[in-house]
Amino acid sequence: MILVMAVIVAPSVLAANFSDFAGAVREIDGSQAPWVHLDVMDGRFVPNLTFGPKLVEDLRPLSGAFFDVHLMTAEPDSLIPAFAKAGADQISFHIEAVVHAHRTLERIRELGKAAGISIVPSTPVSAIGELLPFLDYVLVMTVNPGFGGQTLIPQCLDKVRLLAKLREAGGYNYRIAVDGGVNPETAACIRDAGTDVLVTGSAFFRALDKKALVRGLAGISNSEFKKNDSST
Ligand code: DX5
Ligand code: ZN
Repeated sequence: MILVMAVIVAPSVLAANFSDFAGAVREIDGSQAPWVHLDVMDGRFVPNLTFGPKLVEDLRPLSGAFFDVHLMTAEPDSLIPAFAKAGADQISFHIEAVVHAHRTLERIRELGKAAGISIVPSTPVSAIGELLPFLDYVLVMTVNPGFGGQTLIPQCLDKVRLLAKLREAGGYNYRIAVDGGVNPETAACIRDAGTDVLVTGSAFFRALDKKALVRGLAGISNSEFKKNDSST
């Protein structure tokens, strides 16, 4: 069972044991988190390497969760068709990596997938201002991308507030996600800024009670959770 939540929690397999991705996805499903966040790193855009579309293809039959692919790659265009075919539901790429972002967004949409853009801590919202009407998703990085387990940079939450205001003023439809340093201590502040999706790597895989972690990050009280879930 996947929990219906106002704020979406998206555990990232980046913090899982890489010898057991299948087990990691089962743990995410067991936690009732509705999304799985898949961090793709190429060793060029960021100084780390993770995995390619084959992993998404192999995980796809194991889970009904929404697969949210975060491309931290220098040339996202060349990888997008393969990730779409492998079973991604949504693909986001970094504005810092591309010139023709509008075309890249169209490409993702043409493949039938939700399309998003991610911005690193040093990139202002104005860098994607012209693209806001074309976005399903904006991923605000609250750490410098490349590694899990870093501390959230609180100033980045001002970008979430601004994106929420611009969405309201412009009648846009994008979801706003925060990625990096999300944990039970920072979650309330992140939600209060207007975040729709909380990506969590190390906090999720560290938690002994993953269901409790997910509902805590989503800001769901114990009593509300019990109403939704007769199995606990
Ligand atoms: C970092 C990745 C994140 C990462 C977050 O470059 O984009 O998705 O998994 O990890 P934590 O939650 O440990 O900060
Ligand atoms: Zn990510």
